Amino acid sequence: MKKTILTGIRPTGNLHLGHYFGACQNWVRLQDDYDFFLEIADVQALTDHFDQPEFVKKNVYELAIDLLSVGIDPKKTHLFIQSMVPEIAELTVFYSNLVTMARLYRNPTVKTEIAQKKALFGNDGESVTYGFVGYPVSQAADITALQGEVVPVGEDQLPLIEQCREIVRKFNHIYGVTLKEPEPILSPTPRIKGLDGNEKMGKSLGNAIYLKDDDATIAKKIMGAVTDPQKIKKDDPANPDVCMVYYYHKLLKNENLETVCQECKAGARGCVSCKKELIQKMEEFLAPYREKRAYYEAHTEEVTKVLMDSSQAARNKAQQTLQNVKQKMYIDYEKVS
Ligand code: TRP
Ligand code: SF4
Repeated sequence: MKKTILTGIRPTGNLHLGHYFGACQNWVRLQDDYDFFLEIADVQALTDHFDQPEFVKKNVYELAIDLLSVGIDPKKTHLFIQSMVPEIAELTVFYSNLVTMARLYRNPTVKTEIAQKKALFGNDGESVTYGFVGYPVSQAADITALQGEVVPVGEDQLPLIEQCREIVRKFNHIYGVTLKEPEPILSPTPRIKGLDGNEKMGKSLGNAIYLKDDDATIAKKIMGAVTDPQKIKKDDPANPDVCMVYYYHKLLKNENLETVCQECKAGARGCVSCKKELIQKMEEFLAPYREKRAYYEAHTEEVTKVLMDSSQAARNKAQQTLQNVKQKMYIDYEKVS
């Protein structure tokens, strides 16, 4: 029997290279060995974007196409939409009694996000909603509804998995053993630096290369990448270890990496041609993705079918979980007694 994996992603934008190398690449590998549920977390996205419902909806489809195009295989993976599994929302209500407000506010992920909101909107946090503070509870419902045993996440999500484990333990203690405690697994490459030299590539940092970017956009972004600032002239020797262009040659596994390194150190390589080579490599890297994306864009009905079928499969499983949960909580009135 394959173990069950569950992970989720918020539909708030297209995938960029940071997502790809930090998470998606790993998911594509995992889908062979696990029963994989990949959730497009639209309800969770609404905790942050409740006033932009059309934006969230548009991104559900965008993300689905992106994920299928990087190699998420609908024959292996259940790519489902969170809101189409309403059992998750029901479980969230039941679990909400098992978590104190103090514990939620102490959750490091929530704490950081609230601090970011305060910095961004300059308020004292009074506008933080109940839904937002409670999203770890809803995430615990995501995981347990599908009986996820393994949850691949980035380091920033570990406190949410811990919170889920606590809810599971408390539920099992009070109502009798029903739910499984999930184990997190960390991505082998947690984060990718931006072309600007920032430690992280991110949408809000404005330094991301999107998988969907066209050639001209990519060329422009790469031409603006941070190189060794000591190198002024074309034939100045430089240090590739402080150059983002070199970092990306490495990431894309350029087969001439050794040559790039040596020529750079010897002053035998100009940054412009080095960047042009990277643009070329990036286009080669993106070719399979682009091919699949073009296919799915032309066959959107197939994308919809994948989402509907997978959501139904996820729902079937979540219904079993909910039935067990309600039975343990004595909320089983349909049973004629
Ligand atoms: N909170 C996760 C993120 O922002 C997305 C997510 C939703 C998730 N549900 C999940 C991750 C369940 C793991 C398990 O990236
Ligand atoms: Fe970077 Fe290439 Fe310029 Fe060296 S030659 S500094 S690796 S862009």
